[in-house]
Amino acid sequence: MRKVLITGGAGFIGSNFVLHLSKAAPDARLVVLDKLTYAGNLENLKTLSEGANYRFVRGDINDARLVEGLFAEEGIDTVVNFAAESHVDRSILGPKDFVETNILGTFTLLEAARKHWLALEGGAEGKRFLHVSTDEVYGSLGATGLFTETTAYRPNSPYAASKASSDHLVRAYCHTYGLPAVTTNCSNNYGPYQFPEKLIPLMVINALKGAPLPVYGDGQNVRDWLFVEDHCKAIALVLREGRTGETYNVGGRNEKKNIDIVRTICSLIDERAAKDGRLRQEFPFEGSRASLIHFVKDRPGHDRRYAIDCTKMENELGWTPGHVFEEGIRKTVDWYIDNRQWWERIISGEYTEYYGLQYGGRLAGQKQ
Ligand code: NAD
Ligand code: DAU
Repeated sequence: MRKVLITGGAGFIGSNFVLHLSKAAPDARLVVLDKLTYAGNLENLKTLSEGANYRFVRGDINDARLVEGLFAEEGIDTVVNFAAESHVDRSILGPKDFVETNILGTFTLLEAARKHWLALEGGAEGKRFLHVSTDEVYGSLGATGLFTETTAYRPNSPYAASKASSDHLVRAYCHTYGLPAVTTNCSNNYGPYQFPEKLIPLMVINALKGAPLPVYGDGQNVRDWLFVEDHCKAIALVLREGRTGETYNVGGRNEKKNIDIVRTICSLIDERAAKDGRLRQEFPFEGSRASLIHFVKDRPGHDRRYAIDCTKMENELGWTPGHVFEEGIRKTVDWYIDNRQWWERIISGEYTEYYGLQYGGRLAGQKQ
């Protein structure tokens, strides 16, 4: 029975992964460690019950005593590290939490794994530390080219720099101490349970409510989008079959300009409203929602283009992204329409006051 510590398992990708693994590996014990920051939400995991296969622990990955206690008590043999501050705009407004969680938190986890696994007779045989990272560590691309696993790191935002730093620590622990680690660098995820500060859920919710759709700069920035379920499958595969010490780029081969994504979301909602009387009643709107689009001041240091070459995942592990964007975005828009209680709670006064957020995920004081 694998004993898997999943950090950040109540966040967007983490919770999708926990739900995926609970089905894909029903015999494993999943120990979720999450601080429940504004981005962590236990509602995402409400279908799981505490017992032999699942335990939730509220706590900080920076808490060495807690983390080491879990390694000892649970006999953890696998770590999947999702815990992070993940939003670029927040890192620009306040980088400190990013340094603390993304860099020092990863260091704390690595230290616990080193102490517990490498002190054992037989070394770290059968152990695995998977660090979940991002394509933003590579910086920004021009009009052509793709990020490969050998592209030099050139992080531009405090968020990207903190993730790059954590990636280097993971690499160093593997190289120096022989910690059996592997890192995945993934492109932009989208799908159910994404916190509505990020582009896609923010635009879906604002478009439903008839609120402005703030597109940064000229809207021509390009991201490569991957449906979250495909990312979870990639992580599960790397966990099983990835080579120790390697890094794997994970991407959707779905490059899109921001403005095109926002227009697609508007058309999908208009299309569904045309055939769904209940939706029309709940979210009345005259004309096309694309009229809500407006261009706002650009994000400082905004990376122009990201694009992932995932050939290594395809050739070595036989993974391919299962969803084309058109299918994934339709599923995603439908999910937010059908799960309004999930996001209404998040944007309600109760939740936003607690976390100091304004409606739409914008931080107090952030200029339009
Ligand atoms: P998220 O912000 O939705 O969730 C992060 C989770 O980590 C939350 O549940 C939060 O409570 C928890 N957390 C934060 N600080 C913590 C701490 N100190 N101790 C314990 N838990 C803590 O993030 P996400 O979008 O699900 O991203 C998950 C991981 O994947 C991150 O490491 C991120 O860098 C990486 N990633 C994200 C994307 C993306 O598009 N969202 C793409 C590539 C990589
Ligand atoms: O590339 C992977 C990264 O993708 C992850 O590592 C990050 O954790 C994740 O947040 C995401 O970062 P981005 O900055 O690309 O995601 P975000 O959803 O914030 O923005 C996507 C694009 O949309 C980006 O070019 C900025 C733009 N944008 C975003 C928001 C929130 C807007 O134009 N308007 C907005 O309101």
